[in-house]
Parts: sequence; structure tokens; C-alpha cells
Amino acid sequence: MPKVKIVYCSITGNDEEIADVLDEKFQELGCEVDVSEMGQTDTSDFLDNDICVIATYTYEDGIVPEEALDFYEDLQEEDLSGKIYGVCGSGDHYYDDYCRAIYEFGKVFDKIGAVSGANPVEVELAPEEEDINNLDNFAEELFTKFQNQ
Ligand SMILES: Cc1cc2nc3c(=O)[nH]c(=O)nc-3n(C[C@H](O)[C@H](O)[C@H](O)COP(=O)(O)O)c2cc1C
Repeated sequence: MPKVKIVYCSITGNDEEIADVLDEKFQELGCEVDVSEMGQTDTSDFLDNDICVIATYTYEDGIVPEEALDFYEDLQEEDLSGKIYGVCGSGDHYYDDYCRAIYEFGKVFDKIGAVSGANPVEVELAPEEEDINNLDNFAEELFTKFQNQ
């Protein structure tokens, strides 16, 4: 069974909720899951896992939220070859760069050798029923990608 690491970045709780939804789904699939807040996490924690997930909000200044910058920079130094990754997060269509930080993290994962296992999931503010379905499918796709590799 795959080991899954979920790292979230959240101020008002929406991405924490996203991480909780994914945690529950991965556990249902039989995975060993560990969830942590980005500020409390070392990027090397991904090394010990098979599936790496980031859930982050987006803020209009900078490419990723300021509190995520250290993690974003450290991540570029890791080698995650052979790992499967998925990115998701919450944003607000009121802003121009909708959910941009998700894709910025996706680019880093690509650069450091991880393989995308599912399309990114964008959530408008807090996850609602449709978002929860999308997140459940996202987790299933990542899991299937691991099984088929
Ligand atoms: C000052 C400010 C700037 C924001 N800029 C963006 C943005 O550029 N793009 C976006 O999609 N959402 C933007 N948001 C919306 C947040 O990403 C959204 O509220 C998100 O749900 C917060 O996630 P959290 O509850 O996990 O902290 C912004 C919110 C605030 C308050």
C-alpha cells in the first residue's frame, strides 16, 4: 500500500479542509497517510513517501503565498524521481490569478522528477459537495497511478 504525504498551506481553513477530505479518502483506499501544515514540514519528508500532495491557497502577491516561500524554494533542491504527485487548493475567482500557486508547485514537482498522477483540483473557497467528489476522484487517480506503475 502506498505511503501518502499531504502538505497544506492555509490561513482561513479551506485548504486544511481539503487536506482532511483527501486524508479520509486515502485512508479509505488503505493508504498510510500523514498530513502536516507547510510551515511545520520539511520538504525532505516527501522522500519517505510514494504519493506527494500539496494543497495551497493563492494570494495575489508573489507566485506562492509568502508563508509557503521557504518550502517552495527548498522543494526545488529535492530529487523526487519515481514519486507520484498531485496538487490542489483553494482560490477565489474574484482575483485574476485564480489558484495560481497550485500550478507553481506543480511546475516544481515536474522539475524535480516527480510524475503527475492526477489533474490539479481547484476549489472555489471552501470545499462543497462537488469539490469533495472532485477531491475523492483526485485521490483515487493518484492511488491508481501508483498501483499501475
Ligand atoms: C488579500 C487576498 C488576496 C488573494 N489573492 C488571490 C489570488 O490571487 N488568486 C486566488 O485564486 N485567490 C486569492 N485569494 C483567495 C484565497 O486564496 C482564498 O480565500 C482561499 O480560500 C484561502 O484559503 P485558506 O482558507 O486555506 O487560507 C486572495 C485572498 C485574499 C484575502
